[in-house]
Formats: sequence, structure tokens, C-alpha cells
Amino acid sequence: MNQGFETLAIHAGQEADPHTGAVVPPIYAVSTYKQDGVGGLRAGYEYSRSANPTRTALEEALAAVEGGARGLAFASGLAAEDTLLRTVCKPGDHVVIPDDAYGGTYRLFSRVLREWGVSFDPVPLGDLDAVRAAVRPDTKAIWVETPTNPLLNVADIAALADVAHDGGAVLVVDNTFASPYLQQPLSLGADVAVHSTTKYVGGHSDVVGGALVTRSADLGERLAYHQNAMGAVAGPFDAWLTLRGLKTLGVRMDRHCDNAERVVDLLLSHPKVVQVLYPGLPEHPGHEIAAKQMRRFGGMVSFRVEGGEEAAVEICNRAKLFTLGESLGGVESLIEHPGRMTHASAAGSPLEVPADLVRLSVGIETVDDLLADLSEALG
Ligand SMILES: Cc1ncc(COP(=O)(O)O)c(C=O)c1O
Repeated sequence: MNQGFETLAIHAGQEADPHTGAVVPPIYAVSTYKQDGVGGLRAGYEYSRSANPTRTALEEALAAVEGGARGLAFASGLAAEDTLLRTVCKPGDHVVIPDDAYGGTYRLFSRVLREWGVSFDPVPLGDLDAVRAAVRPDTKAIWVETPTNPLLNVADIAALADVAHDGGAVLVVDNTFASPYLQQPLSLGADVAVHSTTKYVGGHSDVVGGALVTRSADLGERLAYHQNAMGAVAGPFDAWLTLRGLKTLGVRMDRHCDNAERVVDLLLSHPKVVQVLYPGLPEHPGHEIAAKQMRRFGGMVSFRVEGGEEAAVEICNRAKLFTLGESLGGVESLIEHPGRMTHASAAGSPLEVPADLVRLSVGIETVDDLLADLSEALG
């Protein structure tokens, strides 16, 4: 029987400990494992860079909730991205990237991989003809983020999977903003789902981590080889915290969405707000696609304000319950100015963000308190 999302999040890869019956996988704070004679590994464990039982539990749970063949857990989202890109690309290859994405992902392409010999072209992913035209014989991947950070643009995963596969490339979807509860890219044809598990999967702003989940076991195996060979693995305590967060992802996401919808209503009616960016709005250009491929529309809300950059920064500074800080996806609400904070590394690039933009990660506090704080900050 196919189990539901919450059942998988709580049980997949997390059978009670065979020795003690502990219902939660223990933190295996260990680097190496006793062998029963040379090469006689117990349950396959040899050295914790290669595999560690706490990390295995997280990796199996992530694979289950994304509906993938293989899950791999990394030290950060960017470590996962780097490992993926240096597995599917070699120097001389090319990647199509979005013209709106997390600034650190753009920095990885523009400052690290370019020097390593991988070229890239930013393309508006909503324009399928433009994406098709950007695919070259040496294109190894189309990189998708949907919804995007910070403009909440939406890309059609199923259509882009066809474009990628027609061109002999893999389709990679950074699923951080939606989380596997709201969107399952592999079921729509993507080859790899990428996560900064630092965000909704971890959910409590207490751990940095990343993940890759593949549709095919084959690609999973190649990535696992590189994960071990390159070494950017999640440590056991980080894996354990992430796994604890994952168990409540479904209930948290529903509350994030409930609260975000109320915040959107408030912003829409506020005279100082020029534009609200949220895929749940019928006027959002990606609304129909989002409605098709997402369960709900998420907890991230961006908006543009009258008065330009200074006004946007002021709002960020005035908020109290919305904590001024980078990152997102935790139970507590955060506010930030992408131009000066998370996306400063995209300044002057095709991925530069508007200066009058404010980004909210709407948490799961009592919604009336959030609305009061935001009204106060907006002035
Ligand atoms: C959409 C997205 N992808 C990837 C990352 C990178 O993840 P990490 O900070 O865990 O390295 C982030 C971080 O903010 C992100 O927002």
C-alpha cells in the first residue's frame, strides 16, 4: 500500500532500533566501524564519510517523501548543488539557469563553476521557447527553482522536463521554497530535486544542511560516489536534527500557508504596498501552473513598496516579531531586504533584484500577532 506523506515523513528509514527498540534513530557520533575480519562490514558501514546510520535514516526518509529512488544528505544546500553540478558536468559543459534564483546559487555558477570551465546562460524559465533556444549540444542540465527566491516566479516543471530530455540534459529542480509536502518535482519528470534542508525541511532555524533526491537509482549511485569522493556530507547530529524537523513538515507547511494567505490579504489592502508577489494570487503570472503542480502556495511572500530602497529597508528595520535576518522556512517569521542581504551577490548581474523589494518568511506564530507587527512596520 502506498503510504501518505506524513506517514513516510515519520516512519520511512526510521524503524525502531533493533537492539534497544528506541523509536527514534540514535545520533551515531562515530567516525569508523569495527570490521568482522578484513572487509567484513556490519550492515555495510565502514567510515562515516561514506555512510553513517543517522544520515542513512535521513537519506531514506528524504527519498521517500520526494518519491525518489535515492536521497543524499549534505553539509549545506550549496554543498549539495556543487556535488551535483560537478557530477553531471565536466569542464567545457553548459547549464541553463533561471534569471531569478537564490543569490548563492548564482554565485556558485558565476564565481566557482565558471572558473572550473562550466558556462551558463540565465533564461526566463516561463518562456519555454527561450529555454529551448538556450539548450546547446553541450548543455548537461537545466536548473530550475520554483517558486523562485526572492521573486516567487513559477516554472512549469513538466514542460521543462520535456525540453531538458529532448536536449539530452537533466532537469534539476531546487524545491527548497515549496518543500516536498507542497511539490514533488520527480513525479513531474524532473531528474533531481535539490534542497537547502536548512529551510522548511529542518524547519527550526537550528541546522544547516542540503539534500539531493534522484528519480533514477543510476544517477543516485553516481552522486553517492561523488558525495563520498568530495566529502561534503551531513554530520550525524545535523542529520538527526533535520530528520526531527522533517517529521512535522506537513503540519508546519499547512500553518505556514494559512498564515501567508492572511499576510497577503493585509499587504494587498495596504496603501504603501505597490505589488504583492505570491503564487496563490490569481493575478500572479504563474498561478495556473502553481495550482497544477503545488498542493498549496507556500509560506514565502515578497512585496514591493512605495518609496524605493530606503522605504523597504525601513520596514525591515521596524519589524519586531518578524525577525530581521537571512534564511527562511523556520517556525519563526523572518523579514529581509534581498537587495542588501541574501541577493547582494547578484548585484549588477542578470539576477539583480529590485531595490524596493521586501521578502517575508511567514512563520507559524499566532497570525493576529504577525499581522499587527507587519501593520506597525509598514506604518
Ligand atoms: C532556494 C535556495 N536554494 C539553495 C540555498 C542554499 O542552501 P544553504 O544555505 O543550505 O547552503 C538557499 C539558501 O538560502 C536557497 O534559498
